[in-house]
Amino acid sequence: MRKREILESGWLFRFGSSDWETVTVPHDWAINGPFAADNDYQCIQTVADGEQEAIPHYGRTGGLPHVGKAWYRRSFLVPKQDGEKVHRFEFDGIMSHATVYVNGQKAAYRPYGYSSFAVDATEFIKVGEENLLEVHVDNPPCSSRWYPGAGIYREARLLTLELEHFLYSGIHVTTESLDLNTREATVKIHTELSCEGLELRVNLMSPESKEVNGNCPDISFKLSDVKLWSPETPNLYHFQISLMKQGETLDSIDLNYGFRTVVFDANQGMSLNGKPCRMNGVCLHHDFGPLGAAFSAASMRHRIHLLKGIGCNAIRTSHNPPDPKFLELCDELGMLVIDEAFDVWKIAKVDNGYNREFDEWHVRDLTDFIRRDRNHPCVILWSTGNEILEQRCDDGWKVAKELQDLCHALDPSRPATCGLNDSGESIQRGMAQVVDIPGWNYKPHLYPDYHARLPDKPQYGSETASTVSTRGYYAFPVEEGLHTRECGQCSSYDVEFPVWASTPEKEFAFQDQCPWIMGEFVWTGFDYLGEPTPYNQHWPSHSSYFGIFDLCGLPKDRAWLYAARWGSKPVLHLLPHWNWAGREGEVTPVHVYTNHPNVELLVNGESRGVKKRVGHRVVWDAVRYEPGELTAIARDDSGRELERTTRRTAGEAAGVALTADRVGMAADGRDLVFVTVSILDAAGNPQPLAAVDITFAVEGPGVIAAVGNGDPRSLELPNQSHIRAFYGQCMVILRSSVETGRLKLTATAPGLKSDAIEIASSRY
Ligand code: GAL
Repeated sequence: MRKREILESGWLFRFGSSDWETVTVPHDWAINGPFAADNDYQCIQTVADGEQEAIPHYGRTGGLPHVGKAWYRRSFLVPKQDGEKVHRFEFDGIMSHATVYVNGQKAAYRPYGYSSFAVDATEFIKVGEENLLEVHVDNPPCSSRWYPGAGIYREARLLTLELEHFLYSGIHVTTESLDLNTREATVKIHTELSCEGLELRVNLMSPESKEVNGNCPDISFKLSDVKLWSPETPNLYHFQISLMKQGETLDSIDLNYGFRTVVFDANQGMSLNGKPCRMNGVCLHHDFGPLGAAFSAASMRHRIHLLKGIGCNAIRTSHNPPDPKFLELCDELGMLVIDEAFDVWKIAKVDNGYNREFDEWHVRDLTDFIRRDRNHPCVILWSTGNEILEQRCDDGWKVAKELQDLCHALDPSRPATCGLNDSGESIQRGMAQVVDIPGWNYKPHLYPDYHARLPDKPQYGSETASTVSTRGYYAFPVEEGLHTRECGQCSSYDVEFPVWASTPEKEFAFQDQCPWIMGEFVWTGFDYLGEPTPYNQHWPSHSSYFGIFDLCGLPKDRAWLYAARWGSKPVLHLLPHWNWAGREGEVTPVHVYTNHPNVELLVNGESRGVKKRVGHRVVWDAVRYEPGELTAIARDDSGRELERTTRRTAGEAAGVALTADRVGMAADGRDLVFVTVSILDAAGNPQPLAAVDITFAVEGPGVIAAVGNGDPRSLELPNQSHIRAFYGQCMVILRSSVETGRLKLTATAPGLKSDAIEIASSRY
């Protein structure tokens, strides 16, 4: 039987010529800084942003020290065993150019940091002895357009297998047929094995139990009364697939599978399980803000919950293969996924990018990626690339076709897409015609034109809006378009965007006008490390302003705008904050994000009229600031009050308030609790301008995993027990230990009333 050891603890790590230190994997060596303007400083011309020549870009990859060479080392014992075994390492991702050595002998090399790969180490291993695993990592400068992370940032495992075993990614489950009326399904499981002539056993463990036996390599069986998978009802079937020889189990793999149908239609849009389904999606980078790139299932779960909370039902993994556990979470929680392979093919976007590896590695990388991910019900489309520069070449379509043909060969059940940003060239030179389902980055006003020119192609917005904002910061006058300011922040009125982008509402309008467009993927769900557009020349800006949520996961105003548009719950959100000392008597527009039919605004109890909602933003643009109280009242068409919300001018900061996303956590050493820290005035109102230093203390089973405040310009490091509140808020992320008990977090700030909360840590 297979044995699976997760190689989490016991690693030694050395960056450059520094001393060896002990680390756990997943590990991101760069996230704890220090930040510096010259960390991976890039002098480049971003044509899309209207730059006329190469100019300095600081913080483009996060301003963190991810460039360089490092070693990881770990010893492992291979006990004496009965009979011959196969020893396989599995790496879910190493950033980047990883060379794996076993007992000093080179066993594998993998340049693409986002690829998962397996290493057969059998010939290098000494049975009954301590063995040495070493991984050399090399991150060249100018190899990424964003923060890539650094090191063994995803899980690593050692598997011990019988000679007869399933190959790596060697199980392919497909739905041969699914009748949406009778709910009868035929499942086929194809296996790839190290041997021939054995039997297969499939145990359906839940939601019902069933055992099916057959011969290798394929087994098919019927299921009745199938419970369908969808984002709203993520029903999963748990299969245990075993390789058998005369009643003895030689190998066994557990996997979850879901049944759904997806139809993409050039005129009707997308349907899921026979019903129309619009993709209310976001693009997502792989880093977790203050937690860095080291994959954390708990953090990913938290992010998916936040996204589902605003009605988001789809994620595009921009622009690379995600951690495999990300897809397990999307299956479990219900999230559609566009699974993207590459940001670049042969033509470089940065000097030392994947373009250098493409010729030698793309077939292997794409093959491994599809074989790894093709059993997930959440994956609805393969994306072969993003804004690939080959769009503008006469034979670019040939590469697109080659990649897409490979996707089809490995997975005939799903079409492929590509995120295109140059519609003129990509249509004229034929790439858009080749791609099964073209995705369009920006320019929603051209959707009608795309449909007219490619009438047989289903289409969607693969990158939309790109509105930029800073949580808590508002600028006057409120004007649409590109703005840069000395302070290095973007206004949270959600009307600012780079030259190629737009407001969320422009996208909404064209989505409504073009029913064949299957939905949108907002750039981006969360702020991410790197790409601080429009402040690329403005160090210390080093993280993006694009997120609906900020870098540490706090919602920006836009979260309510999308919730009003996408979600099914009532939304009534008022902005800006109402602390404008010095602006008395000046025009201070008030915006309300809502899905209610009408809204009335009161300023210090005086009505400024009822407005009918058109879109999801209701605006009073002539309000003059006076301190006091701002109230929005949602009313139905007969004037009845449905809901109200108020913002008050807050007094001085007087206290700290902690709110945890959960009351309990798992005592597994990996679980996380996200605690929002808010600064309040003496009456308990949020103090929206507070910028006080907060110090945290933890007692009991757990530690501070990271702190953050969402400021794209903050150089405070995440591995501290203190941080400055940014516009009245910050975040502390707690990690459980393997001990059970009650963890107590206390937050203090000079001169303010402190707060404490307790979290129960237990074994689930
Ligand atoms: C797009 C690109 C993204 C990101 C975004 C914001 O053009 O596909 O990866 O760079 O612009 O700058």
